[in-house]
Amino acid sequence: GMTDSTLIAILPGDGIGPEVTREARRVLEALDLGLRFEEAPVGGAAYRTSGHPLPPETLALADRAAAVLFGAVGDPAFDSLERALRPEQAILGIRKHLGTFANLRPARIFPGLEDASTLKPEVARAIDLVIVRELNGDVYFGAKGRGTTPAGKREGHDLMRYDEDEVRRIARVGFETAAKRRGKLCSVDKANVLETSQLWRDVVMEVAVDYPQVELTHMYVDNAAMQLVRNPGAFDTIVTGNLFGDILSDQASMCVGSIGMLPSAALDGAGKGLYEPIHGSAPDIAGQGKANPCAAILSAAMLLRHSLGQDAAADRVEAAVAAALGRELRTPDMGGDATTAAMGEAVLAGL
Ligand code: NAI
Ligand code: MG
Repeated sequence: GMTDSTLIAILPGDGIGPEVTREARRVLEALDLGLRFEEAPVGGAAYRTSGHPLPPETLALADRAAAVLFGAVGDPAFDSLERALRPEQAILGIRKHLGTFANLRPARIFPGLEDASTLKPEVARAIDLVIVRELNGDVYFGAKGRGTTPAGKREGHDLMRYDEDEVRRIARVGFETAAKRRGKLCSVDKANVLETSQLWRDVVMEVAVDYPQVELTHMYVDNAAMQLVRNPGAFDTIVTGNLFGDILSDQASMCVGSIGMLPSAALDGAGKGLYEPIHGSAPDIAGQGKANPCAAILSAAMLLRHSLGQDAAADRVEAAVAAALGRELRTPDMGGDATTAAMGEAVLAGL
């Protein structure tokens, strides 16, 4: 279908999703880039009004838009619903619908936040990495099932599988990302035991021929988990499969302090992207003005960079977040008492 290059779809979701998305939208509006914004319900908010967490009108808006800014979903009021109707299905469904196979999760420490990390300040201070996680394949999407063995034992299985095209396209995103950063790509696999990983490694090495300026290394995932807490400053760009990326990116995120600081982008390789904070709907603090909006605001910066090509505007937003933190403004997750709105206001002031 046709997409509108000035239209941004805002899907606030439920819980703290609407609270943090509001601040991110205000920041995008303040940049005066001639963008238009349209909102649609998703998750618990959509279930309340339409009986479905991901209504067709919401998907249609996402299709028409240049990019999607997503809040969070997970209202526990709907926990007892069947899986297909639960709010969380909305995020899986929309990623699949948009074909966003490349998940970029940057983790870097903002000045003054070393204390919030569980690592020693001098170790945390050096973190500036991005994990490029494959999002549409691997063991999550392979054949799965439950059964009974001939001996009568209960059994469960999930097939880990990649084909070479799936590996090639995520490898390219990895190399492109590294080329724009410090030129170091670490491909993480488990090639010592997994055939999937052997294929992964072969294809990554083939793609490497096109990127002589990038230094490629390979690391087993168990070692990568160790190195991420031992010497995270050594990493620049990590490219890995869906399962390993899921685990390593959560680990990396905690190394830089609060979950409320971490943005993400899910890209389709053709400019369309879904941008969201990595946190969930945080029902424990929803509606209290306590949520840190920085992850949502930094997700908006990624939207500017990856879907709109507005790199200078993205830089301005990131600098404004750093400046607000530099003025010692902190929401409770970072050890302060600023409200969501005050934090957003300070970022706006920094612009
Ligand atoms: P969560 O990320 O919502 O919250 C974990 C902890 O971090 C909570 O103590 C929360 O208060 C805090 N937190 C999260 N974001 C924060 C922010 N911006 N500022 C300050 N504190 C923040 O994860 P949880 O509690 O496991 O999940 C809650 C719901 O969200 C569940 O239904 C889950 O399925 C869903 N979820 C949705 C995601 C999404 O929409 N992409 C991602 C992860 C979880
Ligand atoms: Mg996860």
